[in-house]
Amino acid sequence: MPLLENIGCLATCRSADDQADIGLIYDAALVWRGGRVQWAGPSDEIPGAHGGETRYDAGGRLVIPGLIDCHTHLAFGGWRSGEFSDRIRGRSYLDIAAGGGGIVSTVRATRALDEDALLSRARAFRSAMASLGVTTIEAKTGYGLELDTELQSLRVYARLAEEAGPRIVSTCLAAHVVPPEFEDDRAAYVDLITDTILPAVAGAELAVFCDAFVETSAFGRDEARRIFETGARLGLRPKLHADQLTDGGGAELAAEVGAVSADHLECISPVGIDALAGAGVVAVTLPLATLYLDQEPPPARTMIDRGVAVAVATDFNPGTAPSYHLPLAMMLACNRQRMTPAETLKGATRYAARAIDREGEVGSLEVGSAADFAVIDAPDVDHWLYHFVPDACRWTVIGGDAFHGGPLEPVSS
Ligand code: NIG
Ligand code: FE
Repeated sequence: MPLLENIGCLATCRSADDQADIGLIYDAALVWRGGRVQWAGPSDEIPGAHGGETRYDAGGRLVIPGLIDCHTHLAFGGWRSGEFSDRIRGRSYLDIAAGGGGIVSTVRATRALDEDALLSRARAFRSAMASLGVTTIEAKTGYGLELDTELQSLRVYARLAEEAGPRIVSTCLAAHVVPPEFEDDRAAYVDLITDTILPAVAGAELAVFCDAFVETSAFGRDEARRIFETGARLGLRPKLHADQLTDGGGAELAAEVGAVSADHLECISPVGIDALAGAGVVAVTLPLATLYLDQEPPPARTMIDRGVAVAVATDFNPGTAPSYHLPLAMMLACNRQRMTPAETLKGATRYAARAIDREGEVGSLEVGSAADFAVIDAPDVDHWLYHFVPDACRWTVIGGDAFHGGPLEPVSS
């Protein structure tokens, strides 16, 4: 049984309640077997049965549950750097989209790639994310918007999930926008989603969730409700892109349909916040998207104070969040969303696991949970997110095996 000792600070995130409680243990040790945690606690309390294993040295560093990026658009073709400079010069995201750019231009670039090309891009992003301490990634479609390319993106995720590296949880976002070929008949596109795409996705067991972008430029609440009802019948639980650019009542819809999460929420109303709290929907905040779109941040403090679990993710995509750097998003959550480093860590681990319905399995270090953890070159959580460096992760361990950083350091005798 492997034993990691000399952990200066261990954040277990073992409590389900209180966003600020990250279950800190100083001078700690961690024991795992068969990819699962066997024991976590103070060094001077290691049970005798766990004393003589292969011993590794954390070097007095911080150890956290592997980070969970619970909202990404991992598979896409091309980039949109031209739009980045257009937006900086003052052109709005919606104006760019109305002119044929935005999501639709990534749809063109994604449809042009074959499955292997899409896979090799997504594989490279996933490896780079692992080097930051990420051990689970939620990955959405949404750049196919036709049966074959939506299925192709999901097959890419299924193939990645078979390879060593971060775990993949897939979401079908066929309801990202109405593709240009359905511009004059949006109802026909909603029919395509409900009658063809979602049944094919569920039939092939290629996704766990179904998502919709509820926004004036994308889908209305009635359209989204229909999509979610179909998804639910097929066993695909709802997630929403909600209240990102305008208050479209997305949070209220998330509560009504029993969504696992409502994501973005820069424009959520007080009524929407109460709805999320009442229904136990996780609020997934995406500070990189807020930053790139130069928006006011979502009211994370108010949400936490009203009892909403607030997660933090990257939203990695070629338009609104072209960075997969989750620790950077976390630093922004502290500074812009006024979340403490502890609250932010819980938002990128345990509550991110809740946002993908995997709480207890990943996102915490407790008996029976996955031995997914990151060894961070910092003395504690406050210091890590305060003295931000882009490469603080020394080792990433997934299912008990080191994936990034080379083999763990053995204890020298
Ligand atoms: O999560 N809001 C909608 N979808 C993405 C943006 C996708 C894009 O611009 O390509 C988001 O921000
Ligand atoms: Fe998104």
